[in-house]
Amino acid sequence: MAADRKIAVLGDIHANLDALQAVLADAKAYGATEYLCVGDVVGYNACPNECCEIVRSLGAPTVCGNHDRYSAFGESLEEFSPLAAVMVKWTRETLSAENAEWLRSLPFTEVVPGGITLVHATLDDPEAWGYVFDDLDAETSISYQKTQICFHGHTHVPVAFEMHHGRVSRLAPGTFRLEAGRKYFLNTGSVGQPRDGDPRASYCLYSPGERRVEYRRLEYDVPAAQRRIDLAGLPPRLADRLGEGR
Ligand SMILES: [Fe+2]
Repeated sequence: MAADRKIAVLGDIHANLDALQAVLADAKAYGATEYLCVGDVVGYNACPNECCEIVRSLGAPTVCGNHDRYSAFGESLEEFSPLAAVMVKWTRETLSAENAEWLRSLPFTEVVPGGITLVHATLDDPEAWGYVFDDLDAETSISYQKTQICFHGHTHVPVAFEMHHGRVSRLAPGTFRLEAGRKYFLNTGSVGQPRDGDPRASYCLYSPGERRVEYRRLEYDVPAAQRRIDLAGLPPRLADRLGEGR
């Protein structure tokens, strides 16, 4: 394995082309050599095809998120909020046949070379779309984690959980090094719809050679993404929340 691998891990892109382009420019400036994606490429924003095509062109191993799943399969939307359901229906109508087929092909979990696990929601039941908000949720998922590091998404809140001697604690989602004998369950935060009150796009850079993880936040052209929502005739609340980071 090349010692100089630099991996950009993206999640919850949610069809936000402006945020994705900003993140990719930042990752490139940091010398990213490869890309991973923890799912929810589509939903909530107006550019599902463009975002699918970019992720596919990066050759990024990608796992399936709930929005990917429901947008690409004609399944019942009972469990979605009314706002999310509107978006899934619109995305179903907008996705090209090729991109829908790609979304249908995505696995729920994947272990990529170098011992990195990817999952959208939880490892204990990846298809149940459970949310990991606290240490107890994280402990359940980590008990199924066979590699030292696992990246996930789904909550749209960047957070780092560490397990050491069977106990889970949190690390500040900044920059840290992986230590031997510990496991890391890392939520990358959301590229395209952050929900922690900070509207800046969130993603992770991982350098396996240095055993170093860096959480990145960056400004992008939020008004441009909001205009796309407006032009597509999508609910205004989806544009407003981008500005609030909610
Ligand atoms: Fe999501």
